[in-house]
Amino acid sequence: MPIKPNSVDHQTTIETPRLSLRPMQATDIDSLLLIFTDPRVMASFGGELFTREQMQRWLQRNLDHQTQYGYGLYSVILKANGVLIGNCGLEVMQVDSDTVAELGYDFQSDYWHQGYAIEAAIAVRDHAFNVLGLSQLINLIRVGNDASRRVAEKVGMEFDSEFTRYGNQYWKFKIENRIEQLK
Ligand SMILES: CC(C)(COP(=O)(O)OP(=O)(O)OC[C@H]1O[C@@H](n2cnc3c(N)ncnc32)[C@H](O)[C@@H]1OP(=O)(O)O)[C@@H](O)C(=O)NCCC(=O)NCCS
Repeated sequence: MPIKPNSVDHQTTIETPRLSLRPMQATDIDSLLLIFTDPRVMASFGGELFTREQMQRWLQRNLDHQTQYGYGLYSVILKANGVLIGNCGLEVMQVDSDTVAELGYDFQSDYWHQGYAIEAAIAVRDHAFNVLGLSQLINLIRVGNDASRRVAEKVGMEFDSEFTRYGNQYWKFKIENRIEQLK
């Protein structure tokens, strides 16, 4: 049940009925900046909007993650108009001395409430379990972020615990790879 898959998965694009989730690229910076300077999005992270430099660092971190693990946060493209409307994917992190993959997502607020986050997150869950063979996914959600909590629940995640990380209160949700457990 490796965190790092044996074969590198950089080129994988995940398709859903309405979305393409493709590996993030350095040229996505302007589209990502629209999301991370969207006040309704950033309200979920304390309210401060990203500068271009912060966006660059965030993007580079994810590109490095893709190189290291073969997967990361994908850019979510709406097939109907070709617009990059969000990001959704996986980030490996240390939580309680465990190394785990977090399922994360952020979408431009013009595109909220149409089921896109749920559609993308379910596709990433299936990719993580069926293709990458990860044993577990978690989701760390700031306490009070009910929209994100709802997405986690729709993905099949269950509430695990509430804890403090870097001074913020989080709900931890998790889901196990049942297929992996049957092997
Ligand atoms: C969380 C987020 C990605 C959801 O995006 P979205 O495309 O609107 O999500 P969906 O339409 O797929 O589904 C959202 C679900 O939450 C529900 N929901 C939306 N806002 C809600 C709220 N304020 N309280 C409770 N439920 C809410 C919706 O009704 C829907 O559930 P349903 O299908 O049972 O009706 C989006 O709000 C976002 O980008 N927020 C800012 C960044 C963020 O919080 N990222 C997650 C960090 S952990």
